[in-house]
Amino acid sequence: MKTLKNGELWYDTQGNVIHAHGGCMLKKDGYYYWYGENRNDDNYISCYRSADLREWEFRRHILTTHSPVSKSRVKASLTLVNEKGGKVNLERPKVLYNAATKKYVLWVHYENGENYREAACAVATCDVPDGDFVYHGHFNPFGYMSRDCTLFQEEDGTAYFISAARDNADLHIYRLQEDYLNIDSLVNRLWQGEYREAPAVFQRNGTYYMLTSFCTGWKPNQGKYGTAESMDGKWSILKEFGDETTFHTQPAFVMPIGSPDNREFLYISDRWDEEDYNHSSYVFLKLTFDAEGGLHLEYDENVPLEGRKGWKEKGIDDGEASGNS
Ligand code: DGJ
Repeated sequence: MKTLKNGELWYDTQGNVIHAHGGCMLKKDGYYYWYGENRNDDNYISCYRSADLREWEFRRHILTTHSPVSKSRVKASLTLVNEKGGKVNLERPKVLYNAATKKYVLWVHYENGENYREAACAVATCDVPDGDFVYHGHFNPFGYMSRDCTLFQEEDGTAYFISAARDNADLHIYRLQEDYLNIDSLVNRLWQGEYREAPAVFQRNGTYYMLTSFCTGWKPNQGKYGTAESMDGKWSILKEFGDETTFHTQPAFVMPIGSPDNREFLYISDRWDEEDYNHSSYVFLKLTFDAEGGLHLEYDENVPLEGRKGWKEKGIDDGEASGNS
């Protein structure tokens, strides 16, 4: 089997380039589902799946300009094309499984395809992880701007939507309602005026970590992270991780890997090509932690998966996980 090299174009099992940018992963029934942006043709978001994080099978374009639409409780525009009939812009899709409703719920950053002034979020749902998602429209949470975003799910099912507000100056944490279809409340505003983007949240040994980038368009910059004892509690001052370009990456997601008593964390990131978006690639790296819980990222040209020391023997059968430990 081939080794995946970080920063190269990766291909699915049909030989097509994988388009899952700004994405996330969800573990369900023995598969990792990888969702991400696909800006080609009528597509918005594509889904791939893999049992080993290396061989990726294309499943479906789960959200396109032709996706079915349906109103939810939130009054929201349901159009998936803009006023000129062109494509809108859907960035950083994140998907959670709601065990109570048995729905897969997707939140994503919405823009009108012309500029970044809508600064909205959008929601879609599906009964299966890789089916045609039903679009429920876009809105501004409590009227706030909402750009780069992520989702985080606690083990008890409580979920949070995190997004950049106030022209990216601040990061907001919103608790979601039980069915994940609307926001319950704004529970935190972080790092005001520090312009953090690309949030990725996970929990390790009871500590919550949020990785972020600075706000420099498609250009990479120094990654920073904060920690907290609860999502709605006090978060630390930001500390640096990786190098001054975070090894030419921007965070997309952190995927917990391995058994609960031997948990490791995979940093899933984009290496954007600002000249040719479709030439953007992925960089997967292992996060490491020091005795004080400090987080570190070192570069490795190889993706740290099965066959690589430290992963094969630990196995990747980690039950179902989506960001927590
Ligand atoms: C940085 C964001 O993280 C990306 O998702 C994208 O919105 C670019 N900015 C656009 O410049």
